Amino acid sequence: MSSTRTLIRGGLMITAAEETHADVLIEDGRIAALAAHGSDAAGAWTADRIVDATGKYVIPGGVDGHTHMEMPFGGTFSSDTFETGTRAAAWGGTTTIVDFAVQSQGHSLRAGLDAWYAKADGKCAIDYGFHMIVSDVHDGTLKEMDSLVSEGVSSFKLFMAYPGVFYSDDGRILRAMQRASGNGGLIMMHAENGIAIDVLVEQALARGETDPRYHGEVRKVLLEAEATHRAIQLARVAGAPLYVVHVSAEEALAELAAARDKDLPVFGETCPQYLFLSTDNLAEPDFQGAKYVCSTPLRPKKHQEALWRGLRTNDLQVVSTDHCPFCFTGQKELGRGDFSRIPNGLPGVENRMDLLHQAVLDGHISRRRWIEIACASPARMFGLYPQKGTIAPGADADIVLYDPRAEQVISAETHHMNVDYSVYEGRRITGRVDTVFSRGKIVIDERRYTGRTGHGAFVPRSTCQYL
Ligand code: URP
Ligand code: ZN
Ligand code: ZN
Ligand code: ZN
Repeated sequence: MSSTRTLIRGGLMITAAEETHADVLIEDGRIAALAAHGSDAAGAWTADRIVDATGKYVIPGGVDGHTHMEMPFGGTFSSDTFETGTRAAAWGGTTTIVDFAVQSQGHSLRAGLDAWYAKADGKCAIDYGFHMIVSDVHDGTLKEMDSLVSEGVSSFKLFMAYPGVFYSDDGRILRAMQRASGNGGLIMMHAENGIAIDVLVEQALARGETDPRYHGEVRKVLLEAEATHRAIQLARVAGAPLYVVHVSAEEALAELAAARDKDLPVFGETCPQYLFLSTDNLAEPDFQGAKYVCSTPLRPKKHQEALWRGLRTNDLQVVSTDHCPFCFTGQKELGRGDFSRIPNGLPGVENRMDLLHQAVLDGHISRRRWIEIACASPARMFGLYPQKGTIAPGADADIVLYDPRAEQVISAETHHMNVDYSVYEGRRITGRVDTVFSRGKIVIDERRYTGRTGHGAFVPRSTCQYL
């Protein structure tokens, strides 16, 4: 087999660890070597293709550790398929997603995971892995967790919310955590007290409070903080690590921070929607607030500063999107007259790298922290590092050339996600993805899509590398 060599020359390479003017040599889908720009070593390289990155950042492809393509929810399915969703991810500079396979109640983990393999196989533009949603904990599923870890599906999401759908009670959660403590799996927790929330939902609807904004009012900060606290204590009892997904509230973050101050293996992610949007959006008139219905819900603006601080201090390690789009027309509309019927979830897989770059310019995080929370840390958290999440010899050549000065306005008119609105409509961003490599193949070439459906491959993951 003849090898193909690509040279990326003249850019500012940024990883979680350093910023340096380095040239990058790619051979057969992997990073073959790095050398200082202008050095003799770099000057001696020959290549089939030379890509000029002058004026651009050369960064690792984004790793989005939390997406839901074609996810069943509330009688419908999230509107991005693996084909459309991974293409949109590539447009936004993300080269790996970790999506959630779903166990339906009464079925095995195996059946759920196989269904997700089948959905994704031959469809993806970029590489992908899976977490497993466990909605039915019993002796059989606990055993299955061990074999999933061995096949590279090493993390399991449990829900303290959504009684009757994904919900697990504390006993089931404890048993799954005990299993994970033995097999190296990472328990991911949706931490909201769903039993209490369902009471408040019923009471709100009985009072005629049916608008989308009541979704935010019944899903109280205290019930996220309480569930976060309880999840941490259960994980301590089980001796298991814990990763809390979509942290939205200052009080929940305080629980994580307190646990981390005790040196407990407790981790947390937040999402762009909690950093950039608020209950003001949920309160938009004429049912427009439905576009912003997700769980955990959007919070009052004051929580944003706490989340940014958590990202700076490493009490939060990861920003994922929780990409789970539903069209306004025909999907979000299912909840007109009853907010509890609005499918939960927001689009965002295409927007994460740009929004976080804007956060660099706005002074919330440093450039290297941008790469850490969006690339390196999710790769480490989910056992993908250094194959993914960094630029280093031997790593997959998943690389983004990012133009830090380009101006763009986010809009559903121009985005690539299969959804009829953008939660960031009209937002001005400085910075834009220019060119994207996925395992050495150019999938976005100076803002033209050159990828291929089916190029993306399943990536088996090792266990959490923070342990
Ligand atoms: O509203 C959300 N987040 N939908 C996706 C499912 C989940 O809980 O992550
Ligand atoms: Zn969740
Ligand atoms: Zn989710
Ligand atoms: Zn797009």
